[in-house]
Amino acid sequence: MSTVKKQLLNHLQMIANCDGQIGVVGSMNADYTVTTERFPHPGETIQGGPMSVLPGGKSGNQAASAARLGARVHLFGALGSDSNAEFLITSLASAGVGTGSIRRVAGPSGTTMITVDSNGENTIVYSPGSNATVDAEYIQSVVDDLKQSSVLGLCLESPMDAVLEAACVCHGHNIPVLLNDSPFIDSLPQDLIDNTDILLVNEHEMAQLLKVNEPKEDDWTHVDWEFLASRLHRFGYDNAVITLGASGSRVIENGMLSVINPVHVEAIDTTGCGDSFMGTILSGLAANLSLHESAELASCVAAYAATGYGAQSSYGSFEQIADFIEQKIS
Ligand code: RIB
Repeated sequence: MSTVKKQLLNHLQMIANCDGQIGVVGSMNADYTVTTERFPHPGETIQGGPMSVLPGGKSGNQAASAARLGARVHLFGALGSDSNAEFLITSLASAGVGTGSIRRVAGPSGTTMITVDSNGENTIVYSPGSNATVDAEYIQSVVDDLKQSSVLGLCLESPMDAVLEAACVCHGHNIPVLLNDSPFIDSLPQDLIDNTDILLVNEHEMAQLLKVNEPKEDDWTHVDWEFLASRLHRFGYDNAVITLGASGSRVIENGMLSVINPVHVEAIDTTGCGDSFMGTILSGLAANLSLHESAELASCVAAYAATGYGAQSSYGSFEQIADFIEQKIS
């Protein structure tokens, strides 16, 4: 067995054996998903396949992906009073996610309308529903549980005051905070930058954040990454993961740059692959893996997710990911 494969399997085992708890604060959505041959143009009606309602939401997905690997995860957020709330909490609990701190509010849970084309690409429209009720007061109401985390995951599908409060609480207690700037905003509050430790973005989001030009023909493999790392340092991050789609990712860890190779698969549906990548990074950090080691494993876990439909419904268990590594990694 190659050293790379042995290491990946060893890191996967370390995650499953780890006692540290991952905290994830944010969104849960029922994903109303339809497959189409191609995306419709504005004003056009096209026929799709049968509609499926699938468990999603970036934070729920991150938590579910980590839990499926065997990590201990606690999810913080809000569900509504509709039938989707039961469906979402049941799927999360069956993936192994701790759901005891999730608040119930009157009204609809978060929903999305998703189309997936024949290349596995998607478009998503997000309606926050109960996710919009997650605020700083809620974070304070769960602060004792939140402080049990050994690492915290945040994204921007929740109101900014809740995201900021969670970041401040955890960062202030030396709990590393990983921020996924998604759905993307290009004007992150300085307080949020100061209270997050690691940034996770894709290449286009990074370019917009740093106000740098994108390379010709989208060729990010030949850009000056040392320069970009220095710009990220000036922006406020010495630790970051920049995903490059089918070209893998780049990791900046304590200012040092490294390359993560892609794992090639035939993609059926890329919905939630980024969230499974983030869930695996959180799992790796909780298990004391380096950011680079966590991202290497995340590349495999996210590639596996692209081979199935939906977000949480496509995530691999510990055994499925171990088999995938055995087969795909030479
Ligand atoms: O990242 C994928 C997720 O984004 C979907 O599950 C959907 O709910 C949206 O939040």
